[in-house]
Amino acid sequence: MRCRVSVQVRRRIEEELMGKEVKTIGVLTSGGDAPGMNAAIRAVVRKALSRGLKVKGIHQGYRGLLNEEIVDFDARSVSDTISKGGTILYTARCHEFRTSEGQDEGAAICRKHGIDGLVVIGGDGSFAGAQQLALRGINTIGVPGTIDLDIACTDYTIGFDTAVNTAMDAIDKVRDTSTSHERCSIIEVMGRNAGYIALWCGIANGAEDILLPERYNYDEQELINNIIHNRKRGKKHHIIINAEGIGHSTSMARRIEAATGVETRATILGHMQRGGSPTCRDRVYASVMGAYAADLLCEGKSNRVVAFRGGEYVDYDINDALNMQKEISDYMVRVAKAMTI
Ligand code: ADP
Ligand code: F6P
Repeated sequence: MRCRVSVQVRRRIEEELMGKEVKTIGVLTSGGDAPGMNAAIRAVVRKALSRGLKVKGIHQGYRGLLNEEIVDFDARSVSDTISKGGTILYTARCHEFRTSEGQDEGAAICRKHGIDGLVVIGGDGSFAGAQQLALRGINTIGVPGTIDLDIACTDYTIGFDTAVNTAMDAIDKVRDTSTSHERCSIIEVMGRNAGYIALWCGIANGAEDILLPERYNYDEQELINNIIHNRKRGKKHHIIINAEGIGHSTSMARRIEAATGVETRATILGHMQRGGSPTCRDRVYASVMGAYAADLLCEGKSNRVVAFRGGEYVDYDINDALNMQKEISDYMVRVAKAMTI
């Protein structure tokens, strides 16, 4: 559940916090980890230090904040991290922080440790938490870190590029064996309720069918007809990319095999998609976004999310960012379909 904040309350926060001088900042990662988070942490730390701020690392997201798992950071604390997957700060999902008591405590702990500014690297849920800390007087900035690409205010989220490349490589391998055995393969990719990883892999891997939560009509007969039709046209395999938000790949495979007579296997790629050394793109975007977040705190800004939109790095009010909607591109879906003839 997202918390909507009235325009008047927002103005009050902005007036109170804008221009507030920040001396010590914290940085945490929250929600699912994503390759490139370390590059973002490193950039926050080094940019803030270069501007004369003190920096503290908070382990395990909001849970670690509530447990006061807070350590002093210097420039060397983030050495040798830019190429590493995962997050050196660890991450967590913390139910307690969804409650106002938890949020009050989080703000009080920040004050106790002298943390007057905070960078939260994560997804929409993490930003909703950041907004609550901003309401309680801690200057907070969100940085979009999720493999799912499902943050509406930004065209880019840290981790997506590495995750789709990892998934693409894995799907290429499944495709080889699928061709050798002339099978149908259903490959399930991550993305929670969003179909971006599925759509991108579907295009990059030349899938015959792509099932997106935003589009799928659950008409399995259509898939079955498609497989039979493609067999008649001489296709040696049939790759179906299924998004996690639809799921049930294993039972789908059983039903499809029974209906088509074509051997069908399901592969669920799972958490391998979240690991690995970040791509160049993830490292660079993460570095710029992390540095941008530190700059915003230095300028006394709060309740903002860093974004990449229309070819530029920009920032949005968190409330506005959380109220934006993101659509899957119709044109990309049509292109994917056209490639399957
Ligand atoms: P993501 O940040 O990737 O969207 P989650 O939705 O799991 O991941 O959120 C990460 C954490 O952010 C949650 O475990 C919780 O601690 C905090 N959070 C999520 N939603 C809220 C909310 N509405 N208010 C306060 N904190 C929240
Ligand atoms: O948000 C990233 C993500 O990997 C989603 O794609 C997926 O639905 C979820 O996290 C999995 O979470 P967990 O690691 O808790 O199983």
